[in-house]
Amino acid sequence: MTAVVPGSFDPFTLGHLDLVRRAQRLFGRVLVAVGRNAAKDYLFSAEERLELARVSCVGLPGVAVLPMTGLLVDFCRAHDVDVIVKGARSGRDFEAELGMAQMNASLAGVETVVAPASPAWGFVSSGLVRQVARGGASVEEYVPVAVFDYWRRAGHADAAAESN
Ligand code: PNS
Repeated sequence: MTAVVPGSFDPFTLGHLDLVRRAQRLFGRVLVAVGRNAAKDYLFSAEERLELARVSCVGLPGVAVLPMTGLLVDFCRAHDVDVIVKGARSGRDFEAELGMAQMNASLAGVETVVAPASPAWGFVSSGLVRQVARGGASVEEYVPVAVFDYWRRAGHADAAAESN
């Protein structure tokens, strides 16, 4: 089966990586779809978010990272996706996913599986990681090495617009 793990990944974290790995074990083939939520401002550009997701997933068997524009259901149709996989760290996350899952099922009949965050990553979000970096602390424990290195080199830490 083909699963999609969609997100804005601003930036890609070790929590995202954990979800992608688990989705791959469950479904075999995983497309990581890097999209945008029109309601959010991003710290990293669309190109950076795509590239950082790509380098984070390099070498994972059965995983490909692609850009997504437009609706997730259109991405699912275009790439023969069987199931959408989302992570939930809390009941609040789950509630937000519920509406999207029902809308995507209504629009295109596509199923969504919401996976509870692994305990190790349940407190990690892109938004908190941006906040920590902006405050000057290291985020090395929470993001893939390639993201950490890029971030340090780009000196992005204090330019964040908070959104997640
Ligand atoms: O990182 P996020 O904010 O959870 O990512 C959200 C994203 C990009 C996955 C979501 O906004 C999305 O699916 N956007 C595509 C547009 C779409 O299909 N919107 C309707 C969803 S019911």
